[in-house]
Amino acid sequence: MYPIVRVSFGVVVSCVFLILVANVNGFFVSPSDDPAWVDVAAADAAGSTNGGPGGPGLAVYQRVCQSCHQASGAGLEGVYPPLAGSEWAQGDPGIPVRLVLHGFQGAIERNGVQYSGVMAAWGEVLDDQEIADVLNYVRAAWGNSGSTIAADYVAEVRAATANKLGAYQPDEVVAEVTAAASGGDSSAEQ
Ligand code: HEC
Repeated sequence: MYPIVRVSFGVVVSCVFLILVANVNGFFVSPSDDPAWVDVAAADAAGSTNGGPGGPGLAVYQRVCQSCHQASGAGLEGVYPPLAGSEWAQGDPGIPVRLVLHGFQGAIERNGVQYSGVMAAWGEVLDDQEIADVLNYVRAAWGNSGSTIAADYVAEVRAATANKLGAYQPDEVVAEVTAAASGGDSSAEQ
């Protein structure tokens, strides 16, 4: 009798511990607490704006991105940020196109979790059409809803950032895309 009671008590303690850990990791943080978080359920209800998650981008995603960002788009907490619900993945196409072309590194916080990893550059591996395809998949899958990106647009950004050395830092890519949007670099705009 006594050992059985002890085991049950241990299970209860573990459950309480898991709930606490989930809370600390921001599980209960609401979407409005984090500007880079999009409510996936709400986006789903609103519907995708670029034709759904089918199409040629899925194969590229499975080949290149999935090992880190996962088939579910949820990433790996604290290591690879989620693409499902990511504001940067779905927002101004200038950001995800630059990140995929040149890579990305530096400290970021997504859904209350810190990330400071390194994403390699794919600009030498993937052509403009493949980058458009894979981002169109990401921008339509898992409840995401971003505008469609054309291969021509990827080509324009590739040309406009041809002299870029190394991976983008978070502040750097935001500053560059903001400048491009305000006419500072019109060649990189859609
Ligand atoms: C080797 C692992 C790895 C692979 C493969 C990878 N990524 Fe990433 N990705 C990362 C990491 C790590 C970050 C965050 C970098 C940081 O902390 O600054 C990231 C960030 C991103 C972001 C920004 C998300 C946000 O909310 O800020 C996008 C968009 C993205 N990746 C898209 C892709 C796409 C599309 C592919 C496939 C073409 C891909 N990634 C392949 C590791 C990877």
